[in-house]
Amino acid sequence: MIFGPCTRKQILTMSALAAGIILAVVAISVFSQVESKQPPWAAGHSFNKCHKTLPNTTSSTLELVHIVFRHGIRTPVDTFPNDPYVKDSFKPTGWGHVTNRGKKELFEMGRWLHRRYGDFMGPYYRPDRLHAQATASPRALMSLQTTLASMFEPRGTVMEWNKQLNWQPIPIVSEPLDQDSLLLVRTSCPRYFEARDEVFQLPEVIAQQEPYADMLRELSNLTGMPMRDAEDVNSLYITLLAEQEFGYKLPNWAKDYFPERMKFLAEQSYIYNAYTPEMQKIKGGPFLRKMYDEMLAKQAGSLRPRDRGMFIYTGHDWTVGNILSALGLWKRQMPRFAVMAIFETHQNRQTGEYYVEIFLRNDEFGCLEQLKLADCELQCPLNRLIKLSESVLPNEPMEQRCRAHNPAFVEPPPRKIDQ
Ligand SMILES: *[C@@H]1O[C@H](CO)[C@@H](O)[C@H](O)[C@H]1NC(C)=O
Ligand SMILES: *[C@@H]1O[C@H](CO)[C@@H](O)[C@H](O)[C@H]1NC(C)=O
Repeated sequence: MIFGPCTRKQILTMSALAAGIILAVVAISVFSQVESKQPPWAAGHSFNKCHKTLPNTTSSTLELVHIVFRHGIRTPVDTFPNDPYVKDSFKPTGWGHVTNRGKKELFEMGRWLHRRYGDFMGPYYRPDRLHAQATASPRALMSLQTTLASMFEPRGTVMEWNKQLNWQPIPIVSEPLDQDSLLLVRTSCPRYFEARDEVFQLPEVIAQQEPYADMLRELSNLTGMPMRDAEDVNSLYITLLAEQEFGYKLPNWAKDYFPERMKFLAEQSYIYNAYTPEMQKIKGGPFLRKMYDEMLAKQAGSLRPRDRGMFIYTGHDWTVGNILSALGLWKRQMPRFAVMAIFETHQNRQTGEYYVEIFLRNDEFGCLEQLKLADCELQCPLNRLIKLSESVLPNEPMEQRCRAHNPAFVEPPPRKIDQ
């Protein structure tokens, strides 16, 4: 029958089979393309060029690492009167908490950190080697815990203590929110808010926001909430993003504004919030001061504990934005959830000189972008880096730095997003 003349029915069957095979092949190739475009935490096993990155130690030894990253994907913190989800309970966690998808991404990021810094940190977790700190915000604490869980899996090391659980406790320190002087810098500082008001009065800032006057009016109408400036747009942008990431359908009007039309002002908001050296000093300066002191101590051999190799911090979008702004390194962009800045202190093996390399991880595949200070090389000598930061390093008492010029100025209450 196979070799004989085919009946009409057989031909039809064979064509159907062939068509089926072609369809399957097309479907598989399309599917595999889709899969390879997915970020690793979504695809599970897909591989990409940034799966493994290593510090550049061609002619240096890595001495110290400082990492600061934003918490992972979360449910919304803010809302607006016309939000269809204004009464939603965002089960099971409620508002403002890391979602399971967020945890998957953070867990993958911890593995990525293990691949990059595993050799440097040693074969197993040692308390002296690592300082881990988060803001007192539950989403920051949970994000750091999730990241550390995969960065220091104890199985097969001397730290293994439970055959059923490939996890070990790792301490995280934190300052109470209202005393936060490092990552949120939420201690009272009227001058900061007064300076921010001044920024929004600057002719160039008014000119940048001017083309969006209609959009602000329309969005005020649609949301039922006054939308006055870049900061309001930023807050709405992140609320819509969080709802979308949560799998919720956005209201129909949103597609005309989010993300494209809102993007510029939402991004500018990070720039306006640390616009002047004075503001950068208040918000990013304390972190830089602490980090530089630790780098200098490492260089002098006086850092304690002696074994300390890494400081890892979890904060918020503004934390990363403000620190990099203080260095003149923050370009207009939206920080992703879990956006990360890395500062590596190296010692040149030939000259003995200490230098710093700075990286930003703000890419769906977790690729690193190396950042360069305007007046320094990619491998910026530590002393020069500190010299270039002089105008943003706090050197006066905080009360003095934070005193409003106008004694009648009243500091606004903390934003929801900062708790
Ligand atoms: C790595 O470091 C070496 C020497 O310090 C430098 O010449 C080289 O350009 C660096 N490579 C990359 C990829 O940054
Ligand atoms: C808001 O928009 C609606 C529909 O375009 C319009 O009827 C209404 O007058 C607007 N309200 C305000 C306060 O602008």
